[in-house]
Amino acid sequence: MSKAILILGGSGNTGEKIARLLLDITDVRIILGARNKEKLRKTAENLKEPERVTLTLADASDPHSLSAAFSGMDMVLSAASTAEFTENVASACIKAGCDYLDVQYSNTKVSILKSMTADIEKSGQCFISEAGFHPGLPAALVRYADTQMDILESAITAGAISANWDDATITESTKREFVRELGNYKMEFLKNGDWKKPGFWSMRDFPAIDFGNPVGKKMCVPMFFEELRNLPQMIPSLKHTGFYIAGFGWFADYVVMPLVLLMMKWFPKTMEKPMGNLFVWAWKLSSKPPYYTMLKLEANGEIQGEKTSFYMTLNHEDGYWFTAIPVVACLLQYLDGSIQKQGLHWMGQLVEPIRLIEDMEKMGILVSYEAHEETRNNTVIVK
Ligand SMILES: NC(=O)c1ccc[n+]([C@@H]2O[C@H](COP(=O)([O-])OP(=O)(O)OC[C@H]3O[C@@H](n4cnc5c(N)ncnc54)[C@H](OP(=O)(O)O)[C@@H]3O)[C@@H](O)[C@H]2O)c1
Repeated sequence: MSKAILILGGSGNTGEKIARLLLDITDVRIILGARNKEKLRKTAENLKEPERVTLTLADASDPHSLSAAFSGMDMVLSAASTAEFTENVASACIKAGCDYLDVQYSNTKVSILKSMTADIEKSGQCFISEAGFHPGLPAALVRYADTQMDILESAITAGAISANWDDATITESTKREFVRELGNYKMEFLKNGDWKKPGFWSMRDFPAIDFGNPVGKKMCVPMFFEELRNLPQMIPSLKHTGFYIAGFGWFADYVVMPLVLLMMKWFPKTMEKPMGNLFVWAWKLSSKPPYYTMLKLEANGEIQGEKTSFYMTLNHEDGYWFTAIPVVACLLQYLDGSIQKQGLHWMGQLVEPIRLIEDMEKMGILVSYEAHEETRNNTVIVK
């Protein structure tokens, strides 16, 4: 019998696209879960093969509703903006005996899951956290770079997003989660083998990264993900790494962001809703084509004693697809059993990176490779 995957947040932007891809390229049965039945019904109506899709009401804030919904599932895929309820969702998975995967960008979620490591291990279930574009791909790309060199010394990853926010419906819970998580934002990066925070006056810690067409060069700020933490242990030659993110535009970055951070510090509860709305309004204001979601890898190291550089760019015009595609590429490895391991794992450290990139390319991610100008003689042949 094919596996049953419950997508919590199945009526959301990310959840719906994951469902579409899973129906297209796997034989799993899909159960869409969320609080609003009408939205779930509308989502299911637009999916292919309705006989493989069922609906269930599930509220992450209510452990009883989760227990009832998760019973009989093989995996719960948490694509809902419910990071604050991570303990409920993870505990209900352990109780129901199903595996778990999540996509939220949330340091709160990471802390909760880390505090549950022993229980997760004991349950024998496979927990995959931090799946998607970012988090999700930075560590996978660094590990990909390691397969291309004899000695990997430096692997910097960076993201740039220009989304058509006018066409996107962002739910109240997602806006609130976003501004709440801004307060937990970590800026660490690995420099000369040590984790560092940027110096306030040091512009070198805020590099201008060249994404190529259509983005060009953009100043970026460090953004830490848990998946990066163990990379120096996994790749002992690695001395420099990190993920950097380009801004949303001067108004959102320099006017709205400081105001939101201040308000969330002073009035965290009462300001969640207005600050979430303000941020989305600022995004909509700056939303103009070309639309892209780009990920850049800049890696340096050695092949057969020669200094080598390896650059790689991944692109999709829609950020939600660029979140769903790596999740499903990861699930292909989970479904064939190759990464279904008990315990708590970060997607970027768990997946086999070469197959991941190949599968993402088949699902519509544009991948390009280049050699660095100064080391043209050492071009890495990857295809
Ligand atoms: N890793 C990455 O690269 C990446 C990229 C983009 C987004 N994300 C993450 O993906 C998550 C979803 O984002 P999105 O933009 O797809 O969200 P969205 O379109 O706003 O949808 C949110 C979904 O969550 C459901 N939901 C909200 N509260 C719930 C609750 N208490 N219990 C059950 N379901 C609930 C909503 O349905 P109801 O309101 O009907 O319950 C809806 O289906 C966010 O946490 C975001 O951080 C990650």
